[in-house]
Amino acid sequence: PRHFALIPAAGVGARLGAGYPKQYLPIAGKPMVLHVLETFASSSAIAHVFLVVSAEDGYIRDALAAVPHLAGRVTVIYNGGATRQQSVLNGLHAIREQAGDDDWVLVHDAARPGLTVELIDRLVDALRDDPVGGILALPVVDTLKRAARDVRIENTVSREGLWAAQTPQMFRYALLRRALEQPAEVTDEASAVEAMGLQPKLVEGSPRNFKVTLPHDIALAELYLKGIA
Ligand code: CTP
Ligand code: MG
Repeated sequence: PRHFALIPAAGVGARLGAGYPKQYLPIAGKPMVLHVLETFASSSAIAHVFLVVSAEDGYIRDALAAVPHLAGRVTVIYNGGATRQQSVLNGLHAIREQAGDDDWVLVHDAARPGLTVELIDRLVDALRDDPVGGILALPVVDTLKRAARDVRIENTVSREGLWAAQTPQMFRYALLRRALEQPAEVTDEASAVEAMGLQPKLVEGSPRNFKVTLPHDIALAELYLKGIA
């Protein structure tokens, strides 16, 4: 089976508040989304890269013009949805001609520019003969509190066995489509697959693969991408 990258990049970046979609925010000299495209495009494990943007996106054309060497490796799908889940599903429908049922799809947030080829390889290698698929994730290191009324601590939640989900999340094309077509709203692909009674594998990711969400995340992303951190 082949491996395809599918990158949802149709969000507005409200929490970052840049005034334009955060995937186009320059980090270490180029738009966040280009870091992600470059990484997938340079991975020999990846057959092709699909990028889902909003139908009204006015930025991707100019951004890609700066990286002509990616032209044959990346296809833009102008069909983002109202939610990340819908954007991914729209992308899956758009690639139905290219992807076989058993081909793998690696879904990765455009807002995680710290992904590396080594992390992609780690995920792909760990899932080579896997019947279900899996995700990059990190063991939780914080002490966790459940809040009660008035922001008082109800109790302390053991972090034993808890992991924080990252992306890529890697599943076979047909299974992923079936999972995401269920009506339940999910915030990642794994949840949709879990809802089918399956248990995706956890593969250790990296702190540098964090999601740029709030303004203070930008400086840290710069450090990682400039190779300082
Ligand atoms: N995404 C998408 N379609 C949507 C919403 C989100 O493709 N309707 C993508 C984003 O572009 C991003 C990824 O899903 O690459 C993760 O979402 P998030 O970090 O929440 O990005 P935004 O939704 O853009 O940010 P915010 O929630 O702060 O508005
Ligand atoms: Mg969002």
